Amino acid sequence: MNMAETPNKPKHYGYRVVSDFLVIGGGAAGLDLSLRLAELGSVQLITKTDVQESNSRYAQGGIAAVLDAEDRFELHIEDTHRAGAGLCHQDTVQFVVENGTRAVNRLIQLGVPFTRTPEGPCHLTREGGHSNRRVVHSADATGQAVIQTLLAKVQQHPNIEIYQNHLAIDLITSHKVGRFAPDHPNRCLGCYTLDLENDTVITQQARFTTLATGGAGKVYLYTSNPDIATGDGIAMAYRAGCRVANMEFIQFHPTCLYHPKAKSFLISEAVRGEGGILVLADGDRFMERHHPRRELAPRDIVARAIDFELKRTGNDCVFLDITAKGEHFILEHFPNIHAKCLELGIDMVREPIPVVPAAHYTCGGILTKLDGTTDIANLFALGEVSHTGLHGANRLASNSLLECLVFAEAVEQTIRKLSAEEDTSHCIPLPPWDDFDTHPCDEAVLISHNWDEIRRFMSHYVGIVRSDSRLARARRRIELLQQEINEYYWNCRISRDLLELRNIALVASLIIRSAIHRKESRGLHYNSNHSERDDTLWAKDTVLPIHI
Ligand code: FAD
Ligand code: SIN
Repeated sequence: MNMAETPNKPKHYGYRVVSDFLVIGGGAAGLDLSLRLAELGSVQLITKTDVQESNSRYAQGGIAAVLDAEDRFELHIEDTHRAGAGLCHQDTVQFVVENGTRAVNRLIQLGVPFTRTPEGPCHLTREGGHSNRRVVHSADATGQAVIQTLLAKVQQHPNIEIYQNHLAIDLITSHKVGRFAPDHPNRCLGCYTLDLENDTVITQQARFTTLATGGAGKVYLYTSNPDIATGDGIAMAYRAGCRVANMEFIQFHPTCLYHPKAKSFLISEAVRGEGGILVLADGDRFMERHHPRRELAPRDIVARAIDFELKRTGNDCVFLDITAKGEHFILEHFPNIHAKCLELGIDMVREPIPVVPAAHYTCGGILTKLDGTTDIANLFALGEVSHTGLHGANRLASNSLLECLVFAEAVEQTIRKLSAEEDTSHCIPLPPWDDFDTHPCDEAVLISHNWDEIRRFMSHYVGIVRSDSRLARARRRIELLQQEINEYYWNCRISRDLLELRNIALVASLIIRSAIHRKESRGLHYNSNHSERDDTLWAKDTVLPIHI
């Protein structure tokens, strides 16, 4: 069928929009899925801000996959497990790695301009934790190349309608709207969305809804993530009744640029992969004392080593030095990082770059099976928002974009099978958003204060190094703040700041509760009161809700 001749657009009925598929989030995961689903029917794709903005867009290093003749699936699987510190799910790791090569080849066919070697094939870079060169990349701006290619196709597709500057507030489920049937499980019917330009709430209805809303780096004060990363999808799914897993495993990237004017700028792990070394202000190459693989140890170890050295020396940052590689090499491999640093007065060709660790990736998320399904029927989770079991207690570098792509195909295939069944229940009108009895919020300072407070205590008490007393303190604070925020939410007219605050507070509480539950240290979770890994009791996922 030629879709251009028979467009299958979402249908508009006053405050309601109805389509076959609703995709919430337009990063690598959401764009790839939208493109796939558009071959099956009408798609509503919603993004919180500009459609260009997502974590995916800022990805630098690349996408890990077995592409080199010298490499093997078993080695990528082994590296993923080693980084994941005993918590990766064997079936998921195998599934992702074995389907990864096809996923990358599809991107090549779609036209993503990956960097090539002079001989023709894609150039493969090296990153921490990988035993081989296996990261395909587009210089040091891989995310931008992937997003631009996918977005151009999405924007041209006649079956996709994009709603940018639309913030999904909450999922609508059959139980929430009072539709209980003995033989029907709770099922997702769509979501309420705040149109940020017109300040109105619309109802977006669909047979199948997918959350592809990314991670939650903004729960922390220092993060590599852009402002959209407030964990909205995890919060929405949890409120709707989905289980979430492994929220204690927040990955801190070891090397974010340390500069007062650089808000969340990453210095790619590929800089270390290509020979960059970490030094203290006096030139001391400290990683030698922390791990035999030095700068190329897994991320949790490098980030903790830097944290240790900063506390020991009282310094504000460490330095990443790649000057030994020379100007030609640096400009060829890292043109964007070089330009950004230069803009701020740092010439990485001639001097080391000041860096610090920052919150980077949410390893946990919505519990998702291999076919992308969640605890709620007709609701899928995809990309960083999900917990598929791939990353375990620590994600291997460049496995995230890979997961987005491999699971986009898995979700598409599941939906393809399910959508063959006749079903029109999504066409039944749902109630409009009810904001009766709410009033404009007249104390915006409370919102900004609470935002700031959460991000500060999460950084100080629930960061790279945790302890029982710090976690207990964090728990007391988050409980109080959540009470205050919920009161606000029920009484005040909603706004982007209020909705995001409510979400980061919930996600912070999930991280704290999970961290308190795990009485050991493993991967990204390090508790100084339980500093050893304990496989007899804790070689298992933390799944919420649990009673702790
Ligand atoms: P995102 O790309 O974050 O997209 C989320 C989307 O959801 C956005 O469109 C956003 O607007 C939308 N959204 C969020 N909330 C709402 C809401 N309430 N309503 C409507 N829409 C909403 N991984 C790698 O594998 N390789 C790398 O080289 C790499 N480099 C990275 C560099 C940086 C600086 C960062 C921050 C991350 C990097 N990562 C890398 C991680 C990787 O980029 C992300 O994990 C991945 O891109 C997540 O993709 P996603 O599609 O799941 O979410
Ligand atoms: C980086 O380029 O260092 C980021 C890679 C990743 O997060 O996987």
